[in-house]
Amino acid sequence: MESVEIDGLYFEKFIGSEAINQCVQRLAGEINLFYGRESVQVIYLLKGAEKFSNRIQPLFQFQTELHALEIKTYEGLNSKNQVRIPEGLLQRLVPGLPILILEDIIDSGNTLFALCQFLMENGYTDLKIASLLFKPRSLRFGIHPDFVGVEIGPEFVVGFGMDYNEKGRELDCIYKLKERQNG
Ligand code: IMP
Ligand code: MG
Repeated sequence: MESVEIDGLYFEKFIGSEAINQCVQRLAGEINLFYGRESVQVIYLLKGAEKFSNRIQPLFQFQTELHALEIKTYEGLNSKNQVRIPEGLLQRLVPGLPILILEDIIDSGNTLFALCQFLMENGYTDLKIASLLFKPRSLRFGIHPDFVGVEIGPEFVVGFGMDYNEKGRELDCIYKLKERQNG
């Protein structure tokens, strides 16, 4: 599929499934090198990062403890400023084990800034971030992803876990919003 329509908006193919695969493999290689034989607790953010997480997890060569975490920060095309850290997160974590956060895309950085701040305040300072996509020009909060798949412009994207109005997550490729909405 070269383009898709979701709720009246048109998106064009941006990153194909083979390119996504290669990118995930490269990231896994970098992360494996970094952690070596350590055990790591991996937090992946629902729902967007689930596909990324499912694809990269089997490639990790270190031991992992998996935690799925739902933090909602986005509705439609606009970032909400409120970030709510789910209650009970700390009870699930193991003190002293390094944390790797898997994210689908970093836009303003609001979500990860809040999460990282919360974790660091609670003693989890051994903290790394891997994001499939990163929009450096949209960044407004002071975070720095340690492992990045692809840097993109400020364009809105869907597919491979990412949604518009909860639609488009199942797409195997990543699509970006067309600038001229004439199909
Ligand atoms: P941030 O807090 O502004 O960095 O936004 C992070 C979250 O917003 C991501 O985890 C995504 O779920 C969502 N998001 C940001 N940009 C996009 C996009 O282009 N398409 C779909 N979701 C996005
Ligand atoms: Mg997300």
